[in-house]
Amino acid sequence: MGFLISSHSRHSQDSQIQCEEMWRPWTLLFFLFLFLFFWSTLSLLPPFLGFDPLFSKLTAHSSNQLPDFPCKPPYQNSFPFCDTSLPTPTRAHSLVSLLTLREKISLLSNNASGIPRLGIPPYEWWSESLHGIAPNGPGVSFNGTIPSATSFPQIIVQAASFNRSLWSSVASAIAVEARAMFNVGQAGLTFWAPNINIFRDPRWGRGQETPGEDPMLTSAFAIEYVRALQGGSWERSEEIRNGSGVQRVMSENGESRDKLMVSACCKHYTAYDLESWHNFARYNFNAVVSQQDLEDTYQPPFRSCIQQGKASCLMCSYNAVNGVPACASEELLRIARKDWGFQGYITSDCDAVATVYEYQNYTKCPEDAVADVLKAGVDINCGTYMVRKTESAVKQGKVKEKEIDRALFNLFSVQLRLGLFDGDPRRGQFGNLGPLDVCTPEHKTLALEAARQGIVLLKNDKKFLPLNKNVAETLAVIGPMASTSKLGGTYTGTPCSSKTLYEELKQYVTKISYAPGCIDVSCLSEVAFDDAIRTAKEADYVVIFAGIDTTQEAEDLDRASLLLPGKQASLVSSVATASKCPVILVLTGGGPLDVSFAEANPQIASILWVGYPGEAGGKALAEIIFGEANPGGRLPMTWYPESFTRVPMTDMRMRADPTRDYPGRTYRFYTGSRIYGFGHGLSYSTLSYKFLSAPSKIGLSRTLKDGSVKGILKQEGKQVYSVDYYIPVDEMQNCISLRFSVQVSVVNSGKLDGSHVVMLFSRGPEGLEGSPEIQLIGFDRLHTVPYRSAETSFLVNPCEQLSVADEYGKRILPLGNHILSLGDIDHIVSIEID
Ligand SMILES: *[C@@H]1O[C@H](CO)[C@@H](O)[C@H](O)[C@H]1NC(C)=O
Ligand SMILES: *[C@@H]1O[C@H](CO)[C@@H](O)[C@H](O)[C@H]1NC(C)=O
Ligand SMILES: *[C@@H]1O[C@H](CO)[C@@H](O)[C@H](O)[C@H]1NC(C)=O
Ligand SMILES: *[C@@H]1O[C@H](CO)[C@@H](O)[C@H](O)[C@H]1NC(C)=O
Ligand SMILES: *[C@@H]1O[C@H](CO)[C@@H](O)[C@H](O)[C@H]1NC(C)=O
Repeated sequence: MGFLISSHSRHSQDSQIQCEEMWRPWTLLFFLFLFLFFWSTLSLLPPFLGFDPLFSKLTAHSSNQLPDFPCKPPYQNSFPFCDTSLPTPTRAHSLVSLLTLREKISLLSNNASGIPRLGIPPYEWWSESLHGIAPNGPGVSFNGTIPSATSFPQIIVQAASFNRSLWSSVASAIAVEARAMFNVGQAGLTFWAPNINIFRDPRWGRGQETPGEDPMLTSAFAIEYVRALQGGSWERSEEIRNGSGVQRVMSENGESRDKLMVSACCKHYTAYDLESWHNFARYNFNAVVSQQDLEDTYQPPFRSCIQQGKASCLMCSYNAVNGVPACASEELLRIARKDWGFQGYITSDCDAVATVYEYQNYTKCPEDAVADVLKAGVDINCGTYMVRKTESAVKQGKVKEKEIDRALFNLFSVQLRLGLFDGDPRRGQFGNLGPLDVCTPEHKTLALEAARQGIVLLKNDKKFLPLNKNVAETLAVIGPMASTSKLGGTYTGTPCSSKTLYEELKQYVTKISYAPGCIDVSCLSEVAFDDAIRTAKEADYVVIFAGIDTTQEAEDLDRASLLLPGKQASLVSSVATASKCPVILVLTGGGPLDVSFAEANPQIASILWVGYPGEAGGKALAEIIFGEANPGGRLPMTWYPESFTRVPMTDMRMRADPTRDYPGRTYRFYTGSRIYGFGHGLSYSTLSYKFLSAPSKIGLSRTLKDGSVKGILKQEGKQVYSVDYYIPVDEMQNCISLRFSVQVSVVNSGKLDGSHVVMLFSRGPEGLEGSPEIQLIGFDRLHTVPYRSAETSFLVNPCEQLSVADEYGKRILPLGNHILSLGDIDHIVSIEID
């Protein structure tokens, strides 16, 4: 999700900033007036409006939205759209039919106008909840009875836990806090998260917001997040009162597809992962993407988010895909709605309708941009462009009213599913949630647990860590990041509590000292180095914090280099050299860092990556350093060397092209050297794996039609040197019958318990051009106890997990030996025509 480029986007952001400065004194007066006005009105409200006095008192102090709602008396009996006994589509159609064209157009913005004659208040569609409720969108504010919300680790850190139930628990907690904030007028019910673009390039400023570079991992995350955020588990939750009178629509498999606790949004559709590089910006970038890469890299997370997650919102991105701006792409939006069965509303990224004309230059005039996106299937525009340009587009015959009706139908349907037209939300199913449900001890513990599970131990020479906290020794803490509590990454709200990393470490040792070494993260000066070196020399143990924060990588900010900023590396090396003992290096930030100097330096015994660990990150780190927790996180992205930055960021190709010196991207295709690989992560325990059971042969005959075996003749010059046989997956008849189970065990031969990630990879038959080097096909996180084995199993569907995308984006299943690997052991499964 972006920020508004200004409502007249062609003018630069500077003009917008100036405007805001100019307005400041007036705004303050205006808010003062508004406050006095609401305060006096609320206390005079007649009781039939349903405000209890306590509620009015609480919300009167909130500077945003009035706690107003549609279908309140006397409207609730006047309109069919308020009638909860009718099916959702009937109610939505009825509401559309009551509106004038002008009213309809006024609803095509995130800041949707109210329709007073129908008792409908304005609605702000834009709220954010990436890793906790955040005020990046105007729908959320912390100026009210709820001053803070639980700030979980940034998504890249959560992903490193490889723990599905963790992701689900976190999203459920966010949903509860979201409803609580909605109930006091501090949030909407439509949240624009998760960000599930593939972390394709290590420089991307928003890679931190994603679950990493692997499509299978990202898909798994999307499913858990969306299901839980939308309330998949509310029926199990005892905190939530059993509401009545809310109708349900059951899908074929009996689950409720209709009701939503809050709405989640799969974004940014699609092939978006560049903020700015040279002359390219996300607003004007045209991502040239092959069908092959779309099929096996860029699209899978969106497909899963929609098909299995059942997301109720999809956001189209700023960039064009193969020449067509994503929001204007009939083809892309049709795939989502028709092929994947998307049910919900499609929003543009902020001002991404304006950019179709103003940055992408895709249309000749604004009206054409509006017409194109509506025709493609966009339902709402974040920004004011559609509100301003749709009327003239209709007058010019470019937009038909029925296209607007379709958009409104989709929008109202989601609002209805959220219960927004069921009368007083505080009397509904989630109405009892309030300030006491935010920042609860359970949620804070979960934030700690998430950080504990996500922190990755990258290096640990001679088992230097953990330190023994019972030995009274002195600890020096070095580095500017140690003294900030701002380690949430992008889209962070106001945390329940915030302690610096230094303050948390202080709880564990009696003698501790601190020196920043660098003045800030950019570390341009060495003036504070001497002090840091002196501090380190006097201590027995030294923890140095280095890395990046959101001043280096963020929305609209990609990095140019993968090295530590400024003189940080020099600080780390100098401190390491001066210290009595080898030191511990702790890295912050979401993007990969080239820290090869540290990996190679024997004076740096241990390296930990904490990413953006959220509000409880300091405690989790201290627990790991002092051995109260055993690290089990694994990197969800490749750490490339600095030399990778010669690759143009704009090159979307995943596969390497040796003839053009293009190294490929992510662990699946990258052919160059790496600092740390995808899935890297050490433990304090030693673990060993075993395949307990897995087939060695899968026969395909039962699934084949005649003639479905295909061969590719591979030639070099005139010489034919091999033939690869494969089956197009869409010609196979019963893939489900081919599924097999792989049972594995893990033995912990260390002294500590640990929670450990098991990752199952596959490698297809050698030589099939364009197939990934290796591909994650399953993962699980297990508790392991010393000298005991823990077991798990993976279900593998060869058509899905062992197939590859061909150059036309069609899935094919190669015949021959597929190698399954688990740590350093392999198991061969041969796929044959029996
Ligand atoms: C939302 O729209 C209304 C008019 O419908 C306007 O008065 C208000 O200022 C807008 N709010 C924002 C945050 O743009
Ligand atoms: C909260 O109030 C403060 C002070 O009045 C103001 O500066 C700030 O912008 C407000 N924040 C939001 C999110 O409304
Ligand atoms: C809610 O209450 C109704 C009626 O009392 C009952 O039939 C239903 O099973 C309850 N649902 C849940 C999830 O407890
Ligand atoms: C689009 O047009 C504007 C002027 O209207 C121009 O400044 C800009 O460079 C053009 N962008 C592209 C991508 O052609
Ligand atoms: C996965 O996360 C859940 C939720 O925090 C936790 O209860 C569970 O212990 C974790 N599993 C492992 C193996 O760490």
